[in-house]
Amino acid sequence: MEVIIKNDYDGVCMEAASIIQEACRHRSSPVLGFPTGKTPLGLYEKLIGLYNQGEIDFASVMAFTLDEYVGLEASHPQSFAYYMDNHLFRHVNIKGENIFRLNGQPGNIEEHCRSYERKIQEVGGIDVQILGIGKNGHIAFNEPGSSLSSRTRLKILTPETVAANRSFFQDEKEVPRFCLTMGIGTILETKTALLLASGKDKSGVIAKAVEGPVTASVPASALQLHARAIFVIDEAAASGLTNKDYYRWAYENKGRTLNP
Ligand code: GLP
Repeated sequence: MEVIIKNDYDGVCMEAASIIQEACRHRSSPVLGFPTGKTPLGLYEKLIGLYNQGEIDFASVMAFTLDEYVGLEASHPQSFAYYMDNHLFRHVNIKGENIFRLNGQPGNIEEHCRSYERKIQEVGGIDVQILGIGKNGHIAFNEPGSSLSSRTRLKILTPETVAANRSFFQDEKEVPRFCLTMGIGTILETKTALLLASGKDKSGVIAKAVEGPVTASVPASALQLHARAIFVIDEAAASGLTNKDYYRWAYENKGRTLNP
């Protein structure tokens, strides 16, 4: 596990963009997993900027979205499909046929989730899965208590999430109570898990996820079991970590092992 601490949110987004750029450079068909939320917005802006400067090409990128509300059409402004189109996909040269989404209105939910997992396998797995983190430690929509080996499936949103979403919908009946999400087991199989966090309000949960015990009560702590998990966080989000000095030292000395 690597913890990279940047001064501020802009630094977090820049670092994450360069990790993705690097991954794209080394693969002919890079497979990327994309989250929603506030945190990745700055990263998506950086990726669009790099694309406009000819520094990154999405022509052969394959994209998987991390989660989706059940019941919303892809064209609904609160759907995660809409979010991804609006904040990234429509601004770059990614091909429509290379975008794989969880469908919020699937005919058969279980079959849809199984075929999503199959599709990930068929393309050779996800190279870089970008993640945010909820204040309660959730990753994607794997709320506390989710099995650490869970796969893509239907989840019931917490009453807090449902209440928090109320203001985004005109009609209470429209507010989703269910979602589809990649599982923790699915995320653990990705080649790189790149978790971004910014701000003091994430510091408690980052400390638990990075330095606490691995527990289903803090789903992000499962990333301690990931073969290549990178936490890119700002000083504020890092403020609860005990081993900060070592993380900084390791980052400064990275790449020096062959030429000390
Ligand atoms: C939602 C999403 C997660 C996201 C989390 C944190 O629950 N399903 O994928 O990581 O929110 O969002 P934010 O980045 O806005 O704090």
